[in-house]
Amino acid sequence: MTKIVTIYNQKGGVGKTTLAVNLAHGLARSGKAVTLMDLAEPPYCHQWFRLPADGSAQRWLKGEEVPRYGTRVGGLYVLTGYQPGVEELMSGKMEVLTPEAVRRERFDALGGDVVVVDGYRYEWKVEEALLGLSDVVLIPHDGGTPLDSTNWTLGECMELRRGGWQGRFYLVGQVERVGDVERLTAIGERADGVVLLTRNERMRQRRTAFETPRVARVMVEYHNLCMWLEKEGCQGR
Ligand SMILES: Nc1ncnc2c1ncn2[C@@H]1O[C@H](COP(=O)(O)OP(=O)(O)OP(=O)(O)O)[C@@H](O)[C@H]1O
Ligand SMILES: [Mg+2]
Repeated sequence: MTKIVTIYNQKGGVGKTTLAVNLAHGLARSGKAVTLMDLAEPPYCHQWFRLPADGSAQRWLKGEEVPRYGTRVGGLYVLTGYQPGVEELMSGKMEVLTPEAVRRERFDALGGDVVVVDGYRYEWKVEEALLGLSDVVLIPHDGGTPLDSTNWTLGECMELRRGGWQGRFYLVGQVERVGDVERLTAIGERADGVVLLTRNERMRQRRTAFETPRVARVMVEYHNLCMWLEKEGCQGR
């Protein structure tokens, strides 16, 4: 069955898109068939691949048989997010994603091994539906993330679990200084585990996934993350 890995944190700018793109890329490089689905608002994954933000992700969920975009990485496909045009913004007639549209069968219909979702945020009912059908939720936390936001997100995953959700959730901490390791481990205590990535200038420039030789260390980090995820993702709770 297709695994759904959702990258989510209530707070913006914590590294969700960077993680989603690099993870999807890494999984595809390791031989998986992957769809990267951009449900973020505003969307951003398309820019990494120079694709249009035509809302194919939202349209797919609503039942349209839209084609996925291929990329130059074999096995990696993208459904891009929705960026309302000026006219739509002016008229206030933007398309919205409803919780009813977020159904497991639409993810399964994509086939392949993994769907990586750059998570939606702003409307809890939609977020709840998305997290509730995810097999793995990765919660990024960087130095600038308010603790409240990450704690809230962790709390929501706990709440879903109390309600019978079978998925796993992990804190993905960004390490800048040695002391961060201990701090992040403590923050992620309630999660199923803590994964650490280093803060890296290349990633800040949004170039990581596409530069192999010069950023070997970063690639290794994502490679390790993918290997770990494959193992975790195969385990039931
Ligand atoms: N490991 C990292 N090291 C250094 N910079 C990083 C790292 N991960 C992400 N960044 C940088 O942090 C900024 C925010 O990242 P990103 O756009 O992925 O966050 P986001 O959570 O998707 O934001 P939004 O909520 O606006 O969609 C970007 O400038 C990105 O390049
Ligand atoms: Mg983003």
